[in-house]
Amino acid sequence: MLGLKTLSAAAKSRQIQLHINIAEYACESDLPIADKQLLFRAREAAEEAYAPYSNFRVGAAILLANGDIVTGSNQENAAFSMCMCAERTALAAASYLYPNVAPVAMAITARAYNSVLQVPVPPCGACRQVIAETESRFRKSVRILMQGEIGVIWKVDSVKEILPLTFNASFL
Ligand code: THU
Repeated sequence: MLGLKTLSAAAKSRQIQLHINIAEYACESDLPIADKQLLFRAREAAEEAYAPYSNFRVGAAILLANGDIVTGSNQENAAFSMCMCAERTALAAASYLYPNVAPVAMAITARAYNSVLQVPVPPCGACRQVIAETESRFRKSVRILMQGEIGVIWKVDSVKEILPLTFNASFL
């Protein structure tokens, strides 16, 4: 009897596999000009980071639907938990400066203190959640470009690719 129960429970379960789609570009010259420009602005923004504690400089550049670009860098604090990531700095700035204009793309890059970053830098989990809120708010996907200092560039069409099972207002 017990054996039968176990069997029927097993028959009712299934494995759910999720796939993520990342486009990888070998170098910047393979990117459309608008994406290249956005990465350049992110790199510039990283240089303005206030990162005396980690010496890890992150830059984010957001392209808005009206063609304007808003940038941000990480802003650290001696009370470490108050550090602001570059992505959220840029998103907050964009929301304040252009409350009614949808962000359509974001480029993220970083420079470390003692090594050359050769792999794309993905946004942290908290930033992914805030990008997800932006997508829900404007009902528009945000294309995300990620790059280290050198090396390949990764592009996803929406934060949902890197934040599957997204929590959003539809659950409330
Ligand atoms: N940081 C960002 O700005 N964005 C991320 O997505 C990950 C981490 C910053 C926070 C902190 O100032 C430094 O990088 C080291 O974690």
